[in-house]
Amino acid sequence: MLSLHGKIVAITGASGGIGEATARLLAQRGATVVLAARRAERIDAIARDIREEGGRAATCVVDVTQAGDLRRLVSGAVEQYGRMDVLVNNAGIAPISPLADLDTEGWTAMIDVNLRGMLNCVAAALPVFREQGSGHLVSIVSMAGLHAVSPSMAVYAATKNAVRTIHDGLRTESTDGVVRTTAISPGYVSTDLADSMTDPHIRELTRKNMDAMGIPPAAIARAVAFAIEQPGDVEIGEINVRPTVQA
Ligand SMILES: NC(=O)c1ccc[n+]([C@@H]2O[C@H](COP(=O)([O-])OP(=O)(O)OC[C@H]3O[C@@H](n4cnc5c(N)ncnc54)[C@H](OP(=O)(O)O)[C@@H]3O)[C@@H](O)[C@H]2O)c1
Repeated sequence: MLSLHGKIVAITGASGGIGEATARLLAQRGATVVLAARRAERIDAIARDIREEGGRAATCVVDVTQAGDLRRLVSGAVEQYGRMDVLVNNAGIAPISPLADLDTEGWTAMIDVNLRGMLNCVAAALPVFREQGSGHLVSIVSMAGLHAVSPSMAVYAATKNAVRTIHDGLRTESTDGVVRTTAISPGYVSTDLADSMTDPHIRELTRKNMDAMGIPPAAIARAVAFAIEQPGDVEIGEINVRPTVQA
């Protein structure tokens, strides 16, 4: 099924987990994917794999906290392929802990990657979307962006709520039909996200929950594909994807 044939899609955080699964699925469905993350060897290996399976894939080393890196990602796609149809803002970290622990470094890191990283995506992509007359921003948010999921998630949830709010803002400013926005909120997905958790107790608990009920990252990739596959006059605003057994 090549429902995404001809689409140029850049994906942040594509070196593993949900981003990698999204790059692989979209390429299987005919999209040209540009994989972005900090670990060059990981995205290069995944892109090589995709090409060996007959797909089209390029890479760009990006730290989403750096606005210039996102501008380089977008301008590189435009230079190479003539445009960029979709930017998937997926990169994220979760060094979660109770507020009382005062992990101010973790708070700053989540704000920088999850929130500032998203704004850097908007700043880099919006002018190109407007110039080419169309474009689609997809963000991987979280169930934690919808309601408090656990006592240790306040700052993580705040960054994810902020991302949803900015999506809402972008949608209300895009009624001329040029820019589509989609916010996808996963529940537990089996990935390496727990590695970014600094508190050993919370890290172990999260890994346990992921092992017990996590769904595969491909489940989120299918939601991304569904949103992108819609005709240009149809916007899928929000999708929640959780394990059936998750409350
Ligand atoms: N897994 C879950 O249960 C779950 C649930 C809800 C929401 N989410 C969200 O889903 C998204 C993907 O997470 P995941 O579960 O797939 O976790 P993951 O396997 O840890 O992947 C995170 C990705 O983000 C990238 N990243 C982190 N910091 C970055 C930075 N400064 N610049 C560029 N890339 C950066 C990492 O790449 P490099 O290290 O190579 O840069 C990696 O590719 C995140 O936004 C997360 O909040 C996950």
